[in-house]
Amino acid sequence: MFELKPTKHLLFPSLVYHSPFLNQQECEMYVKSLENVKKESSSFNNDFYQTTDKLHLLNDMWKGLSDKVIKVIESTADDQCIMRDSFYTTCMWANISAGQGYFHKTHTHPNSFFSAIIYLRGSKASSTVFYDPKPQAGVFSPAVSEETCFNSKGFKLSFIEGSIVIFPSWLPHCVVGNESDDNRNRISISCNSMLHSEINTNTAYLKI
Ligand SMILES: [Fe+2]
Repeated sequence: MFELKPTKHLLFPSLVYHSPFLNQQECEMYVKSLENVKKESSSFNNDFYQTTDKLHLLNDMWKGLSDKVIKVIESTADDQCIMRDSFYTTCMWANISAGQGYFHKTHTHPNSFFSAIIYLRGSKASSTVFYDPKPQAGVFSPAVSEETCFNSKGFKLSFIEGSIVIFPSWLPHCVVGNESDDNRNRISISCNSMLHSEINTNTAYLKI
């Protein structure tokens, strides 16, 4: 009997990196510092507040956090063999929920290469959901005996306080609203980063 033992090529994956990043004291320090930062409520969600997206330029403490994120971004870029001069933060802001009605609709982060979320305070169940960026993959969707990263359209990343997630900025993601208290008092920091590079392939000389 012929037994098939194929090689599986994991083509064109959407790489999401999740790692411990801050300790509990650091998380509490950043949460406390946000009390003194001006916030504005979102136009689409009354229970949702955001700070300026220039948080990394506000003072040395936030610049220090941004620099620490860039170190993680640099190691992520090394892992993907990306040639560049450096990475820099284009914007950084805090997302603060003020009630159980909090949600964050599905979106991507334009004009950036890698994005990061730092999870400062929240319930483990208040996950970030990442979605398959290939809409054509949902044209036909048979039932599966077990959900795996090869057959599902979404991936739930639990809210682990002190952790950081790095993902390609074009990858759609959201925070799902729910009736429970999961999203109350949720605080995260979002960061976008871009690279300085000279590019000579598939283009005229390009310096960014
Ligand atoms: Fe986002």
